[in-house]
Amino acid sequence: MANIKYYTEDHIPLEMHKVRIIQKLHLLPIEDRLKSLNDSGYNTFLLKNRDVFLDMLTDSGVNAMSDRQQAAMLVADDSYAGSETFYRLEQKLTEIFKTKLFLPVHQGRAAENIINRTLIKPGDTVLMNYHFTTSKSHVTVNGGLVEELISDAGIEEESELLFKGDMDIGKLNEAISRLGADKIPYVRIEVGTNLIGGQPVSIQNMREVSAICKQHNIISLLDASLLADNLHFIKQREEEFKTKSIPEITEAIAELFDLIYFSARKLGYGRGGGIITNSQQLFDQMKELVPLYEGFMTYGGMSVREMEALTIGLDETMDEDMINQGPEFIAFMAEELLKRKIPIITPPGGLGCHLNAMKFLDHVPRGEYRAGALAASLYLASGVRGMERGTVSEDRNPDGSDHLANMELLRLALPRRVFTMSQVKYAVDRIAWLYDNRHLVGGLRFVEEPKVLRFFLGRLEAVSDWPQKLLEKFRADFGDSL
Ligand code: F0G
Repeated sequence: MANIKYYTEDHIPLEMHKVRIIQKLHLLPIEDRLKSLNDSGYNTFLLKNRDVFLDMLTDSGVNAMSDRQQAAMLVADDSYAGSETFYRLEQKLTEIFKTKLFLPVHQGRAAENIINRTLIKPGDTVLMNYHFTTSKSHVTVNGGLVEELISDAGIEEESELLFKGDMDIGKLNEAISRLGADKIPYVRIEVGTNLIGGQPVSIQNMREVSAICKQHNIISLLDASLLADNLHFIKQREEEFKTKSIPEITEAIAELFDLIYFSARKLGYGRGGGIITNSQQLFDQMKELVPLYEGFMTYGGMSVREMEALTIGLDETMDEDMINQGPEFIAFMAEELLKRKIPIITPPGGLGCHLNAMKFLDHVPRGEYRAGALAASLYLASGVRGMERGTVSEDRNPDGSDHLANMELLRLALPRRVFTMSQVKYAVDRIAWLYDNRHLVGGLRFVEEPKVLRFFLGRLEAVSDWPQKLLEKFRADFGDSL
């Protein structure tokens, strides 16, 4: 069936669902927002949710559930071992991905822990289209290195390229001949490539990567956490798949990989995660780590309710009307920002709208964390919480210097089925105000800095009294308004 889409006259995409449960939100006055920014060390991860108006930190574990998911939670079969709920989930994964073997885990990084403990030897190098924070840290804590083989065009901030997440095949061949296949435990493809702006990978590219891996006997690994958005983009943008159904596209992807893992906090509108494969050998190598780190083999750290909701959520991921909502809202938000000449990553991808802090705050020195400063100043200006995806999200180089990120992004995630269009428009209005006043925004510096994954718990401060100046301008422009 054709993909029927409807846009209103002002190009608002039409949702194919209605909202039946709501949660009240609070918008604090800007003076209180400045106080909570100071209390949270200018790190949006450390803000209390009660101080946040629109939580665009992440889509992880905060996508809205459907009535069918909530209903399924009531019929969960509670048991430590051999729960019917587990078998329903296992069967759903087999139905969708055609894989027979499933290891449940409590979230995506737990799958990364198990995979990397099993496959990495010190001195190994993992090849990836692009790293994700936790996927890289799990390689390095096990003594491995990561090389990113994204094409140069993939990390151009503004582009017309439809599949910016594609791995550069020339770079892949070069890396294999330089390193030797025996030093490469696996090649990892991340669909919906998170840190470059939720950018999709084409099936054409996955086919080429998979064929090269087979030829050299290297394990091909798919991080399917952001698969839902990527499925939508393949259907929209890849000629061969325009007439294929979402289940057919999913199958075409899954058959290319030896090993697949996912965070169900993203995929399947749920919580939890898993590793799936048809390789008995890989399954046997990894399975003992599940009871050691996660829980028994039939829950792996997930509650039975979460597993029931995930089973239904995976079904909904096969429904075009469900998975198009995120990317369509993001495209709308991007369009509105572009109309106002605000620098963002283009083309817009999945997961969220990504502001380009490299340009937005080009007067802030790179060592003072442009994306971090943008995250802090946008919270101050609006109560909208985004996530820094730039240099703060990179740990330091071994010599102690800052590892300057390729991109300085402020990610404004649009968790699926959560926000309304007026809320998206509010965020756009406030971003536009901040852009007009960007010269008032200054940099940040660390006052407490963890060694690993510093962005989660690190605390920073403003390098000058710029937050107070921004507040004063806000009051001058908006009077008593929040
Ligand atoms: N892989 C990708 C592509 C991810 O985006 C994430 C999480 C993980 C793995 C790890 O999964 O959180 O369940 O342990 N991304 C979240 C985010 C944290 O906000 O982008 P997890």
